[in-house]
Amino acid sequence: MKHVFVAGSINMDVVATAERHPRIGETVAGEAVLYFPGGKGANQAVASAKLGVPTTLIGRLGMDAFGEELRAFLAAQGVDLTSVKTTAGTHSGTAIITIANADNTIVVVPGANGLVDARDVTVPNLVKGDVAVSQFEIPLPTITAFFRRARAAGATTILNPAPAKQADRALLDLVDILILNETELGALAGTELRDNDTPERFTEAARTLGHGKIVCVTLGKRGVLALVQGQPLLVPGREVKAVDTTGAGDCFVGALAAQLAIGKQLGDALTYANAAASICVQRMGAAPSMPTADEVDAVLSPSRPGESR
Ligand code: RIB
Ligand code: NA
Repeated sequence: MKHVFVAGSINMDVVATAERHPRIGETVAGEAVLYFPGGKGANQAVASAKLGVPTTLIGRLGMDAFGEELRAFLAAQGVDLTSVKTTAGTHSGTAIITIANADNTIVVVPGANGLVDARDVTVPNLVKGDVAVSQFEIPLPTITAFFRRARAAGATTILNPAPAKQADRALLDLVDILILNETELGALAGTELRDNDTPERFTEAARTLGHGKIVCVTLGKRGVLALVQGQPLLVPGREVKAVDTTGAGDCFVGALAAQLAIGKQLGDALTYANAAASICVQRMGAAPSMPTADEVDAVLSPSRPGESR
């Protein structure tokens, strides 16, 4: 079995739930304060590891209580942490999240994530057929170095350019599969996009990012639009009752990486990742809401009443 390597952020998500989001300058009374392991890199690594695929996370934690807690949690999920350094003089990545009506707002303070550098991503054990994954919560030059290394080894590279930022050509040219929402696609393509734009609009924007790349545009409830050599493939969303969408995109990315690492075809991998994300949104928290393979299988082939699986 091939291996998934995720270079990315690790955060403690400090979550306040409320009946509604405050407007600028307004104070609203909240309901609960919750602490969940998160960070896009960690979430994606947990999603992959929980599906039973060997997964290594590359990143940094601060020398603080959150750092210790995050390390213990990630180890318990089966993520290989030998490439996660504890760094003095900074704090662990922290995300301040408010959730109301299943919608969130997030402020991320990078701390140690901002110090992940090119020396951290040399990954000597990365080999042909492995899958290398990153996002935009660590410095972009680090991601470029990581993908150069991955390409040289013959690994597949997956970039989830979130949160939205512009990136230079040198980085984009190293990407095999881009997974992004319409805002992130707009930021990279230098145009404004909405989730109800036509597949043609998305295709046009995706084309400007370089030919030969697979581009997966995640459209929330509407599902995922994959553009493979400019040809659209729509995987419809699943009707579920969302309680917390934090980390759903990460679940999709991690599950897709895991499926590709075990040799699944893109179409099947997309359907699987879409089902995994539909489970994630029905639970609170980011990393703790990632499903197991049994849970995803149950969604994909539900047993009829009275029948045992
Ligand atoms: O994608 C969700 C994640 O974004 C959260 O877990 C939070 O830590 C932020 O990084
Ligand atoms: Na969730």
